[in-house]
Parts: sequence; structure tokens; C-alpha cells
Amino acid sequence: MLILGLESSCDETGAAIILGKSKSQQVKILSNVIASSLAMHSKTGGIIPENAAREQIKFIIPVIENALKKAQVNLEEIDALAVTHGPGLIGSLLIGVETAKTLAYIYNKPLIPTNHLIGHIYANWIENSPQLPAIGLIISGAHTDLILIEKHGKIKWLGGTRDDAAGECFDKCARLLGYDYPGGPKIAKLAELGDPNKYSLPRPMMNDKSFEFSFSGLKTAFINATKEHFSVLRNNPSSVGWQQIALEDKLEESEKQILYDLCASLEQAIADVIIKKTIRATQSYDVKSVLMGGGVAANKRLREQLKAKLDNSNTKLYYPPVNLCVDNGAMIATAAYFNNQPVDWKKVEADPSLYF
Ligand code: KG4
Ligand code: ZN
Repeated sequence: MLILGLESSCDETGAAIILGKSKSQQVKILSNVIASSLAMHSKTGGIIPENAAREQIKFIIPVIENALKKAQVNLEEIDALAVTHGPGLIGSLLIGVETAKTLAYIYNKPLIPTNHLIGHIYANWIENSPQLPAIGLIISGAHTDLILIEKHGKIKWLGGTRDDAAGECFDKCARLLGYDYPGGPKIAKLAELGDPNKYSLPRPMMNDKSFEFSFSGLKTAFINATKEHFSVLRNNPSSVGWQQIALEDKLEESEKQILYDLCASLEQAIADVIIKKTIRATQSYDVKSVLMGGGVAANKRLREQLKAKLDNSNTKLYYPPVNLCVDNGAMIATAAYFNNQPVDWKKVEADPSLYF
């Protein structure tokens, strides 16, 4: 089965062709093209939704054409279309949804509307065959959720964040240090040189029995600890920050270790909370797999430590390669392949607040 998947929920425009083989229970990517307007948003210090939508309009047709060309297929040969219909920015979502509806109408193809968050988890079925039931751990810039996938199409939401998402915590802390979005990879790089046990930052809700998260208090604790150590942040807060000189470049060699230790301690605190809750979910539901998805799933410390915790259990950890952790059309097409529920194109609508 050949599926064209479209993703346009935020600042990435993705189109991919995947080939699903029912016998092997996994899919193969024939093409996966992504255009990003991220660099443009760095200049404005964050995503301005209208600008993101305008970029989506510019990219959507070339990205689809490119994906078809790379896969050497034409639209007549496609068996179904899949599109992200939420959650996301309404202006951005509409571009993908309306394009997909138009193609479904013109080429008379089934259209499968797909939840972006579920798409992130299904990136794990690309050239791989995780066993169900599974716990899905969605960790992105806007979401931190634990879900139970009993079988394809049967998903139960276990809990999510009450305030900031894990990625948002990384991003806001990185901003204080003078880095623009996405801040997670920058903190992770500084953390490589640091001692994760040097500063004891809070682990909010870690021992709470629920599967809910909260990262806002940890963010504040990190900001306060960093300000306490670096007078440049206290005395002249505007001297570092987005688009200006990163704090690291203002520090004496002897001070830099403090910064690295703070970043490592932050990364460890986030990892500890996520790992503890995920392990508790695997034990509560006796699952065969844990499936990570979303941008923060690219974090090496988190991946390695979660893997080490699951190594001697019957639960296997899966995470997508880094290029499939970011928003892309292949994950949307893959989720649609396993949850093949086409909807009449006239009834498909963008839903910015779609959840589980
Ligand atoms: O899934 P994604 O690409 O976009 C959303 O749908 O939100 O996730 C982006 C998030 C950002 O918060 C970014 O800082 C974070 O993923 N991220 C990381 C790493 N790479 C990306 N966080 C920690 N460590 C990383 N290596
Ligand atoms: Zn995403």
C-alpha cells in the first residue's frame, strides 16, 4: 500500500511516500521531504503563526512534487492520502489539510486524517516492528504525554503535563543562556561537559502516583540558580539573551564549568522525572514496548538512561532516528497505514486543539 503523508502543523512542511507491507508489520520510506521555516523564526525570536502559515503555502506544492519525484511514483499510483489535522497552529494546519482535501477530490483517493502526536509515536514502525501493547512517550516542544497503545486504533491517554512541556523547559532555560529556539540541543551540548549531580534541582511530581508532569517549577529553579551564580544575568539581564552574545562566551574559563554543571543538572532532572514515570507506566500495564517520539526523544542522556533501565526487563525501548524525531510526513503516513480509517474529504477539518 502506497501512502502520501502530509505534515504542516507548525514550522515544518513535510511530504513523504511510504510503502506499507501488511505481512512484515512495518513500513518503508520511499521519500521523506521536509522544508523548514525555522531559520526565519530565529530572527523574530519565536514563531509568529501568520509567518509560519505563509511559509507553509510557499513550500507545500514543491515539497509534494519533490516527494513524488524522489519516490518515482505519481499521484494516480498512490493508494491513500494522510494528513495531520491537529494539534498545531490553525493557519499552518489549514494549508496541509486543504491541500490534502483537494488532492483527494481530484484524484479520487481515500483521505486519512491523522493526529500529529500519534504520528510521532508511529515513527517507530518505520523499518521496525515494535510489539503491542506499548507505552508511548510523547516529548516535544509543546507536549509531554504518556499513552497506552493496546492495539492499533485503541489508545488510552495516561497523563500529560500540567504546565510547561519538557521541550519547553529546555527551550526557556536555553533562552536565558542566550540561545534561540530550539534550545534542547544547545543545553544537551553544554551538559556533555558537566557533572549532572553537582546541583540538586527539583524533580516536580516525580514521586506522584499519577502520570502527570510539571516542568515549570524546575525551569524557575534553574533560572534562579543560574542568576545566582552569574552576576551578569542579575545586574544587566538584557546583556545576554536571544540574538545577543551567549552567556558561555561572556564567562571566564574558570566560570564555564559552573554553567556546564548547571546544564547537566537540568538535563538530569528532566530525564529522571520522565524515566521514573515511564517505568512506572510499563509496570502498571505490563507492556512489551516503550515507544519514544517527538523532538526531546533525540536527547542522548534520556535515551541511554531509559534504555539502561529497561535492558533487563521484558519491555523493549524504541526511539526513532533523530531525523524522524522532528516533524515529518513519513510518521503521519505510517500512523495512517496502521490506523487506516479514511474520512470523506468534505468532513475533514483542521483542529488546532485536537488531543487524545
Ligand atoms: O517534536 P518537535 O520537533 O516539535 C514539536 O512538535 O514541538 O520538538 C521540538 C522540541 C524543542 O523543544 C527542542 O528544544 C527539543 O524538541 N529538542 C531537544 C533535543 N533536540 C530537540 N531537547 C533535548 N535534547 C535534544 N537533543
Ligand atoms: Zn511535533
